Amino acid sequence: MTAPRKKIVCLGLEGTAHTSGVGIVDSDCLILANEKHTFTTEEGGLIPRELADHHLEKFPGLIENALKKSKKEWKAIDCIAFSQEPGIGAPLTVTATAARTLALLHNKPLVGVNHCVAHIEIGKKMCSCKDPLVLYVSGGNSQIIGYESGRYRVYGETLDTGVGNLLDTFGRSLGIGFPAGPVIDKMYFEGKEYIDLPYSVKGMDLAFSGLLTAAKLKIEKVKKEDLAYSLMHTAFAMLLEVTERALAHTGKKELLITGGVAASKALQKMASEMCKEREVKLYICPQEVAQDNGVMVSWLGILMYKSGVTTTIEESKPNQRFRTDQQEVTWL
Ligand code: ATP
Ligand code: FE2
Repeated sequence: MTAPRKKIVCLGLEGTAHTSGVGIVDSDCLILANEKHTFTTEEGGLIPRELADHHLEKFPGLIENALKKSKKEWKAIDCIAFSQEPGIGAPLTVTATAARTLALLHNKPLVGVNHCVAHIEIGKKMCSCKDPLVLYVSGGNSQIIGYESGRYRVYGETLDTGVGNLLDTFGRSLGIGFPAGPVIDKMYFEGKEYIDLPYSVKGMDLAFSGLLTAAKLKIEKVKKEDLAYSLMHTAFAMLLEVTERALAHTGKKELLITGGVAASKALQKMASEMCKEREVKLYICPQEVAQDNGVMVSWLGILMYKSGVTTTIEESKPNQRFRTDQQEVTWL
């Protein structure tokens, strides 16, 4: 009789930007804990120093709660994963330091993971899709991605800000605190009149700063619901134009939307219309694991660890600018 295969359990830390997240996941992707706390503001945006302080303050309690929820002790944890890149310098440093400390203290292997690839892998797993085109939309990122020959290839992307940042920055001008995306998403459905705004797609890439400037100049001149609706509609139409072309080019029959902005009802509505026309199956990553969280980090940690990848303490320095397509995919 063969012994049952031992499950691997990974504790993962997320902290690239606003969210301190601790996830505990096993190698069947059973979520044992998903503890998180997100930095928010009444008005104004994200300040790196404040994000670092936030993570410093929150990580100890979140780690303790995650272990309690999972009913696991340290001896049952096989590896520690952390989001090593890309992100904002100060919070990345706190996260890497916390992960290194845990690894050294409890004598566990460390796995540094790419935050963007973690968004993709948890989305694929949660939605049970096989080989999707991925629309990854969050605060800092907006990319149209597909797997091809050992890498997640970027077919198209924003040339300036991420679409979530666009919404948050525009929201800030309306006096809305961080995150403004969910508030703008509600306003979308209250808007009645489309206001003409710059639409900027360049080949397979796109740019949002002209759209942001033009929308800001119209504040006070038009109804804010109409402006929010028009800004969001224009930005999502741009993203979906590139997505549709990438679907045609790759012939992929699944579209996965992941990242924080995947929660947008407006985006889901527009994407579902496009997918219906193209006979493509649409998958939306569930919100609790689409917005920054430790579960996605643990899950990619498990995939990498099982493929033989670990990170030494010397290699564990965070990297603010690592791209999705630089990550070698060793686990597929
Ligand atoms: P990344 O490093 O991947 O860019 P991130 O730090 O931006 O991640 P996420 O949690 O992936 O973090 O995404 C946060 C973004 O999602 C914010 O810009 C927020 O406004 C936006 N967002 C959240 N919910 C909604 C919603 N319902 N509609 C639109 N945008 C939303
Ligand atoms: Fe993210």
